Formats: sequence, structure tokens, C-alpha cells
Amino acid sequence: MSKDNEKRLAGEAAIRYVEDGMVVGVGTGSTVAYFIDALARRRDRIAGAVSSSEQSTRLLRERGIEVLDLNAVGELPLYVDGADECDPHKRLIKGGGAALTREKIVAAASKRFVCIIDSGKRVDILGKFPLPVEVIPMARSYVAREIVKRGGRPVWRDGVVTDNGNWILDVHGLSIVDPIGLERDLNQLAGVVTVGLFAQRPADVVLVGDREMA
Ligand code: 5RP
Repeated sequence: MSKDNEKRLAGEAAIRYVEDGMVVGVGTGSTVAYFIDALARRRDRIAGAVSSSEQSTRLLRERGIEVLDLNAVGELPLYVDGADECDPHKRLIKGGGAALTREKIVAAASKRFVCIIDSGKRVDILGKFPLPVEVIPMARSYVAREIVKRGGRPVWRDGVVTDNGNWILDVHGLSIVDPIGLERDLNQLAGVVTVGLFAQRPADVVLVGDREMA
């Protein structure tokens, strides 16, 4: 089956977790776009959505789904988002679409995180996909030097400015055997806004196409 077909199946399968009256947390990316399409078909039965990016906000509004402010809604029952890599413990690399900071906030504020992927995203050890790190622009070189000391090869995603006005370093050459430790370590560097490792708060459910990963 094609990658795109698997993404569509995963996006549509995630609808199983949406209950009437819910405010739904919505991630970012091409797999999530299929979820938004499915969500739009039952927009009259949900209370609205909290969006993780300007891109998803646009898609949600175009499809008639009300976008709510996270500060106004409290804890969310459900967050649905894609990922760039997923290990057997449901720990993820995210941020290929540069939306990692808001994605991490909405995931943290949600009771259940359903991750939707195609089978090509499954890995035993995270790190083949370059790890995105969002940095305050003036800290780019400093953070890059610190990452080099840790064995990574940071590459500036030149020309990309995040929804928060920051920059992205994509870190190549990592084999992430301790994702929680690396997430904590990089998080504490001055100037790092968000690390694209979702290991301290992994997904609760992973849908690979329409199948739930054990
Ligand atoms: C955006 C993300 C996306 O979830 C990730 O890049 C996967 O995207 P896609 O569904 O298009 O493959 O983390 O920041």
C-alpha cells in the first residue's frame, strides 16, 4: 500500500477516538490533514479544536471547524498528531513540519495522545530522521556547538521561521538510545525552545495505517 494511502487510513481511523462534545487537539502535517477532513464530516458533533500550528488553523477554519484558544479550554481529552519517527515504546521524533513547540504544548495539555503514521515511520531506535530543535535565533551557533560536543551534526533549516518566530536546527548522526535523557539534556541548553523528542510524554496510542500498534 502506498505511504499516502496509509496516512489517509490512519487519519480516518483516529476518528474512532473522537467523542461527541469533545474539544479535540489537532497536530500538523499531511497525515493530520486527512484527520481534519474526517473531523470536518462530524464538525457539528464536536465543541471545536485546539490547533498546533497556523497551517492547521487555516485547514480547520476552511472546513468550518471552530478553533479555540488552549487557555480557554483547560485539559483536552484527545490530541491527534503525526510523527516523523516512532519507536516500539511510542516515543517519537516530531518537528519535520517545524510545528514542534505548539505540538508539544498541546500534547502536554491532553489526556490521550493518538499518533497517526504510515509504516515507514516505525524504527527500533530513534535518530535516523534528523532531530529538529527549535532555538531562539541568537542562540543558534551556541546551541549548535553544544550539540556537536554531544556527537550530533546540526544543520540550520535555513529560511524556515517557526510560528513562534524562531529557527530550527536539524540534528543528524544521532542514534538515540536514551531518548528521555537526551530530551532532558537538550532542553536545558540556554536558547533551546523545544526539542523534537516526545519521549518524556510519548504517544498513548499509535495508529499505523488503520491498525493500532501493540
Ligand atoms: C510537524 C510534525 C508532523 O507531525 C510530522 O512531520 C509528520 O508529518 P507528515 O504527517 O506530513 O508525515 O511533527 O511538525
